[in-house]
Amino acid sequence: MLSPFIEIVNLNKHYPLSLGIIDRFAGDVKTIKALNGINLNIFKGETLGLVGESGCGKSTLGRIVMGIETPTEGFVKVEGKRIDELKSKHEIKAIRKRIQMVFQNPASTLDPRMTLHQVLSEPFSIHYNLTRNELDKRIEGLLEKVGLHYGDRKKLSGEFSDGQKQRIALIRALSLEPEFIVADEPVSALDVSVQAQILNLMKQLQKEMHLTMLFISHDLKIVRFLSDRIAVIYLGKIVELGSTEVIFKNPCHPYTQGLLSSILDIDPGLTNHQFRIKADVPLSQLNIPEGCVFQMKCYSTNDRCKKESPELRELTRGHSVACFES
Ligand SMILES: Nc1ncnc2c1ncn2[C@@H]1O[C@H](COP(=O)(O)OP(=O)(O)OP(=O)(O)O)[C@@H](O)[C@H]1O
Ligand SMILES: [Mg+2]
Repeated sequence: MLSPFIEIVNLNKHYPLSLGIIDRFAGDVKTIKALNGINLNIFKGETLGLVGESGCGKSTLGRIVMGIETPTEGFVKVEGKRIDELKSKHEIKAIRKRIQMVFQNPASTLDPRMTLHQVLSEPFSIHYNLTRNELDKRIEGLLEKVGLHYGDRKKLSGEFSDGQKQRIALIRALSLEPEFIVADEPVSALDVSVQAQILNLMKQLQKEMHLTMLFISHDLKIVRFLSDRIAVIYLGKIVELGSTEVIFKNPCHPYTQGLLSSILDIDPGLTNHQFRIKADVPLSQLNIPEGCVFQMKCYSTNDRCKKESPELRELTRGHSVACFES
């Protein structure tokens, strides 16, 4: 059995909500339950897609895996080592070099006043002691990888288009040859035509660099393009996990079925409720219902769903679903 590169174990993340002074005195402290009991492994060389609607906890999970946010409970291991137990600066720096993150909005991650050369030199200056010549060579190689010209290195990063900025953010994250990348909605802020270019580039780099990746998106189509396996998350819980093929051919959780039907060309005469999600049911991490997280939007609830929370259960090898009805 392969040992996972990343292990996410019993992870909870709850944010206390800042309340008025009277509520606090009354002891009425509310919490936003962003993540609830996440267990997930990511194996070396694979891309795990994490998909779910806005606010369901995807970015929070990405940040915790990166070690830039701490969980309320549970922990993350990288190659068997808990990242919250790393003590020496040396160990923390070494891990930071091996795992990197690409964010949704390239404009907010690149300082528009820095030149492309400065942006790309930064990671090297933190981790290596390169001569001017060596640094220039590395930068030239990186720019070539993503189809940018070496002559562009003197331009300010604010002068590039959004697609180019995301290419720059991508090669910056990949410059230290990390083994693992968290890509958090890396193409959501881009036009559709540019999205395709960036996704193709990511696919090419993924192959060339044998990357392991957590790829986050609210869009199942996009997740499908790059992922070997897909985890579907709803209100801070993984509700289905399986290979990309299984998730598309045999989705078993009503939420996954709903997500899928929204992107597939389903027969308009179809009345089967299993492909539908109840719309207009307001839900938030502040009011997670007792029992199944999805019950309010589900057409196949029973009494049990209102009382008990279904755990992820393996239906077939590698395909798990958190639903009593599946
Ligand atoms: N620092 C924070 N303080 C308080 N609440 C937070 C904080 N960060 C996230 N949350 C809350 O946690 C929940 C999950 O947020 P998160 O950003 O992880 O969702 P997401 O799935 O990435 O959404 P999106 O698709 O919109 O990016 C949301 O209800 C959000 O408001
Ligand atoms: Mg997010």
